[in-house]
Amino acid sequence: MKIQKEELIKRRQALFSMMQKRSLALVYSGEAPHKTLDQFYAYTPNRNFQYLTGIARERFVLVMLKKDVETYTYLFIESDSEEATKWTGKRLMRAEASEISGIPLDDIGYVAGLPEFLSQKILSDSRKSLIGMPKILYLDMYRPRPLTKPISMIYAQDIIENFPELALMNLCELIDQLRRVKSTSEIALIQEAIQHTRSGIERMMKEAKAGMNERALASLFEYQIKQSGSEGLAFNTIVAGGPRAVVLHYEDNDQSIEDLSLVLCDLGAVADGYNADITRTFPINGRFTPRQKQLYEAVLEVNKAVIDQIRPGVMVKDLNAFAKDELANRLLGLGIIKDKMDVDRYYYHSVSHYLGLDTHDVGTYQVPLEPGVVLTVEPGLYIPEEQIGIRIEDDVVVVKDGAINLSADIIKEVDEIESFMKR
Ligand code: GLY
Ligand code: MN
Ligand code: MN
Repeated sequence: MKIQKEELIKRRQALFSMMQKRSLALVYSGEAPHKTLDQFYAYTPNRNFQYLTGIARERFVLVMLKKDVETYTYLFIESDSEEATKWTGKRLMRAEASEISGIPLDDIGYVAGLPEFLSQKILSDSRKSLIGMPKILYLDMYRPRPLTKPISMIYAQDIIENFPELALMNLCELIDQLRRVKSTSEIALIQEAIQHTRSGIERMMKEAKAGMNERALASLFEYQIKQSGSEGLAFNTIVAGGPRAVVLHYEDNDQSIEDLSLVLCDLGAVADGYNADITRTFPINGRFTPRQKQLYEAVLEVNKAVIDQIRPGVMVKDLNAFAKDELANRLLGLGIIKDKMDVDRYYYHSVSHYLGLDTHDVGTYQVPLEPGVVLTVEPGLYIPEEQIGIRIEDDVVVVKDGAINLSADIIKEVDEIESFMKR
C-alpha cells in the first residue's frame, strides 16, 4: 500500500492553513551522507519531505508559498540524463512525480532551475513575482546534534545570507502537529510494518538455538522481513543475549548466545516509510527457567497494565510514572529491592514514544493523547546481577475510548512462546 495523492494534497493544505501570510516554505529531500572514498550511506528521505510529497528521492526540493489565502506549490526534481540512466537507472520523470504527489505537471521543474525561479518569482517584488516579497522563510529546523546548525540551513545558506530581511521560522513546529496524529492509511501502513516484523520474529523464534551468534539471529530477521515484502529495517536491530540485554541500545550483535539465557530482540520493519518498533524477549533454547518466567511475567503484567491505561486525555508522563510504580511494586514483591526509590537501578528509560515515519516520531509530549496517536509501550527490567534483561514492546493506537494494540498477534505469553518454539 502507498499513501494516495489525495491524502498528500490534504496534508499540504493543512500545512498551508497553519502557515502565516506572505510566507515561503522550503523542504529539502536531503541526500545520502558520505561514508568513505567513493562510498555513500544508504539514502533515507527527509521524512517531512516524504510526508508532504510521497516521494523518497535525493536532492529534490518542495516549495510552498502563501500570500493571504492564495497558495502555490512547486516541486523541483533532478533531470533525467542518459549518463544517469546508464549508471544508476532511470530517474523519476516529471509526470511520475506529479502522479505520486498530486502536484500538477506544470508546477514541477528541475532543481537546476531553482535558483533562478526563486530569485525571479519569489524573492523579489518585481512584476514577475508571484506574491511580492515574502516576509517569512520556514525551514525544517531539526538539529541532529545539540547546538548544531539545522541541515536545511546549510541547503538554504544562499537565501539566508542574501535575504537577511526574511524572518526564519521553524516548519517542524507546524508539521510535527500534523504528523503526531495518524490517518487511517498511516495506521494501516504501521500495521503492515508490524506484520512484516511478526514474520521476522517468528522466524527467529523458530530457528533460535543455544550457541548461535546474535548476528545470525539478526540476519534471519532482516532476511525474513524482506522476504515478507518490507523495504528494510526501521532502525539498527538489537539482538542481545543474556547479560548484554541490560544495555538498552546494544547494537554490537556479535556474541554467541549462551544456553539457558534469554535473548532480547528489539527490532522493526518498514512499510512505505512507516515503522514498527517491537521488542520480544525469549529463551534461546525455547524454555523459560522458573526464575526467568517469574521476572518475565512481572514485565508482561506491566506491559498489559500500561496498555490498559491508554486513552484520550492521558499524558505520556502519567504513563511513565504509572509504569515505574508498577515495576517498583513488582521488584519489591520479588525481594529485588527494599525501597521503591531503587527501581531506577533496574529500569531506566521511558515507557512510550510516538511511532510513525520516524521510529521515535515527532510531536510534543506536553499535550494529552488523542485518537490517532500511535505510541509504543515498552516496560523492561534489567538485572545485571542475574545476567537478565527483559523488555516487552508493543505498538498501540489511541482510539475514542481506549487503545488498540496493533501488535497483539505477536506472541508474548510464556506458554505461547514455549509451544511455538517447541521442536
Ligand atoms: N528501538 C528503540 C526503542 O525501542 O525505542
Ligand atoms: Mn524498540
Ligand atoms: Mn521503542
